[in-house]
Amino acid sequence: MSNLVIVGTQWGDEGKGKIVDLLAEYSDVVVRFQGGNNAGHTMVVNGEQFISHLVPSGILQKKICIIGNGMVVDPGVLITEIDYLKEKGVKIDPEVLLISQKAHVIMPYHKAIDAAREGCGKSKKIGTTGRGIGPCYEDKAARRGIRFIDLLDEDFEKNVRAVTEEKNFYLQSFHKLDTIDVDQLIKDYDGFRKILAPYVADISVFLDNAVRKGNRILFEGAQGTHLDIDHGTYPYVTSSSTISGNACCGSGIGPKRIDSVIGIVKAYTTRVGEGPFPTELFDDTGDFLQKKGAEFGATTGRKRRCGWIDMVMIKNAVRLNSLTGLALTKLDVLGGLDEIRICTSYAYKNQRIEDFPVSLNVLGECEPVYETVAGWEEDISSVRNMEELPDNTRKYLKRIEELSETPIDLISVGPGRNETIMVNHPFK
Ligand code: GDP
Ligand code: IMO
Ligand code: MG
Repeated sequence: MSNLVIVGTQWGDEGKGKIVDLLAEYSDVVVRFQGGNNAGHTMVVNGEQFISHLVPSGILQKKICIIGNGMVVDPGVLITEIDYLKEKGVKIDPEVLLISQKAHVIMPYHKAIDAAREGCGKSKKIGTTGRGIGPCYEDKAARRGIRFIDLLDEDFEKNVRAVTEEKNFYLQSFHKLDTIDVDQLIKDYDGFRKILAPYVADISVFLDNAVRKGNRILFEGAQGTHLDIDHGTYPYVTSSSTISGNACCGSGIGPKRIDSVIGIVKAYTTRVGEGPFPTELFDDTGDFLQKKGAEFGATTGRKRRCGWIDMVMIKNAVRLNSLTGLALTKLDVLGGLDEIRICTSYAYKNQRIEDFPVSLNVLGECEPVYETVAGWEEDISSVRNMEELPDNTRKYLKRIEELSETPIDLISVGPGRNETIMVNHPFK
């Protein structure tokens, strides 16, 4: 198996950064194919924590890291992140970091519109990260977006003045807000262009050459399956396609280049932002998971909502992504609970629902149907092979494999790169 896609199966923050960092050791190139700095991916190496929002999580393993065409990039944030990583001793230059010419650029009006919509009370509050992600993807679809290739183009100023005029009309007339100073915008983006121009490249051609040379590509998903614009809990989703199929569109390679797909599954469920969450807990167990799992957003610092694992969701993710294996994360967090619940289906009115419902009204009224398994007291964070895990832990894992009909390839028992049990190495 050579080229591998890694995606989140739930509502994001499953631990993708940790697993990508770990598996990047066995890859040559790591590609992000969607999303932007709404993502916050945490890596912990030798006790030191790194959080990346835009730079792929292969950077600590000194791999070539690619910002694919499917991403939306705030250039100021990217420059700050490059500086942050350099300060921490990470080598970043145009040899190791490449930005697609076709990736879209987040502009100040995207952030202003995101914030205005979330705060105005006129439209449904999504609980976005406020980074301008949705408005940037809107402009991409409306063919008004600015790509990196356009940022480098001599018509940049003319194009931006025209788009900003329209955005300012909307901000001022509809939201009664201050307008964007277009002269300042052009000056700022001129500065960004000078710094980032050397990183901009034709990624599709680069990846094709890499594959022909026998290089191994790792595709790093952001967000999670249930935040997908098509298949997630719409409208409480992000504005990109987060599932494995988009690894191809978002990077410019064909589907025959993908060999396997690993879904990251947190051993319980979390969600940040608004939207239905059938297994959400409002009791002491929810507090226990939130505190022990340190469930605070890596991007916005918001408290994450917590609940039991939901196999209706995981089965949905297995199907939507063609998952060939699972990586189960944060298993250590469940230690100390007397019993653990696994949601196996939903009860809706007098019906039993096995497949994740499309209607949010239905989903909002679904009651989880649980199977209860015994917990374990032991701290498993120092365990490195399956045989050393407590019996009850192994029973829990077996049940997840049975219900998802998918093998667990990796188990994460702590945030550190080495705090991992490798069951079936995806690259060996
Ligand atoms: P991502 O967005 O999917 O990359 O995940 P985040 O980085 O936003 O959130 C996952 C959090 O859990 C981070 O703070 C990680 O350091 C941490 N983490 C990852 N795996 C484990 C694990 O197995 N156990 C524990 N206790 N923490 C973990
Ligand atoms: P990673 O990659 C968790 C959520 C937001 C909000 C919704 C829309 O770290 O797993 P957006 O700003 O994208 O328009 O917000 O999506 N969201 C995430 N939740 N993890 C993420 O990324 C997220 N990225 C966006 O909280 O509910
Ligand atoms: Mg995150």
